[in-house]
Amino acid sequence: MDRLIDGWGREIRSLRVSVTDKCNFRCRYCMPAEGLEWLERDELLTFEEIARLVRVLAAMGVDEIRLTGGEPLVRRDLPVLVRLLAETPGVNDLSLTTNGVLLDRLAEPLVEAGLRRLNVSLDSLSHVRFAEITRRDALDRVLAGLEEAERYPELRPIKVNCVAMRGFTEVEVPALAELARRKPYVVRFIEFMPLDADESWRGDDVLSGAEIRALIEERWPLEEIPAKASSTARRFRFADGAGEIGFINPVSEPFCSSCDRIRLTADGQLRTCLFSRKEWDLKTPLREGASEEELERLLRFAIAHKELKHKINEPGFVRASRSMSQIGG
Ligand code: 5AD
Ligand code: SF4
Repeated sequence: MDRLIDGWGREIRSLRVSVTDKCNFRCRYCMPAEGLEWLERDELLTFEEIARLVRVLAAMGVDEIRLTGGEPLVRRDLPVLVRLLAETPGVNDLSLTTNGVLLDRLAEPLVEAGLRRLNVSLDSLSHVRFAEITRRDALDRVLAGLEEAERYPELRPIKVNCVAMRGFTEVEVPALAELARRKPYVVRFIEFMPLDADESWRGDDVLSGAEIRALIEERWPLEEIPAKASSTARRFRFADGAGEIGFINPVSEPFCSSCDRIRLTADGQLRTCLFSRKEWDLKTPLREGASEEELERLLRFAIAHKELKHKINEPGFVRASRSMSQIGG
């Protein structure tokens, strides 16, 4: 079958699937303290509906699936979906992005169902500051979740993602770099993007990857590791060989020209960019009995219209209509 190529010549190989918009944290850069208005249960795609879309996409060359939320582990029976997707022909890479708080219980069933890669969000290693940013006192549970994940060698690499914010993250950098040296975790810093529900993002709030790298190199020299062309992260190893650090710099060094990703929201809307102003409804055709060919045609049409790039750094930038937790990181 023909591969999926967008209107700018980029081949689409990666799908992020949000399985719920709910979350048990309230990270300041993502959600307001009181939460958001959650989707109704029947608005969520069922596991069968998700698996059907993944089957159609995998037949067109999408071989990497990442499950996200909200917090994906609050969706009941998630390992059932993991098994369905792991068994889908063409899916080679199945991963999960989580805040980690339920991992101590779920790592084992997830690995058993076929999960092979894990990203855990972690912005601070201090209890007080962790609670300040997530509005939950859960650092110890997240660290316990990571320890539990470490017990499964099938689950590698384990990545730890930190959203980098000026005035907050600078003092976290040494402890997070040490975590990458001490543990088998790849620690990655992600530049803060204008996807917060509070709409408080300002350009000055972004702590760039280059600034963090300089902070780390004051103590530990780094060497760049060549990364895949479609990779969002620049990878570095500590020069003394003790671990790996990454930088995801969507604001200071946009990687849109090699973007191979699309996103499916929990309520069945296809988004061709984090910053899309438009969504493509897949839930309605799915529920009205669309054939495989109809779904394929719809997907190709949407992808042909994928945005060239985000315009965060341009005058007149207009925010996306939903926050990160509603889109799916
Ligand atoms: N900017 C950058 N990253 C964000 N995330 C959530 N909101 C933002 C934002 N505004 C991250 C989370 C998680 C992933 C799903 O996206 O920390 O690692
Ligand atoms: Fe929840 Fe993730 Fe948003 Fe934090 S960033 S509130 S963990 S969805």
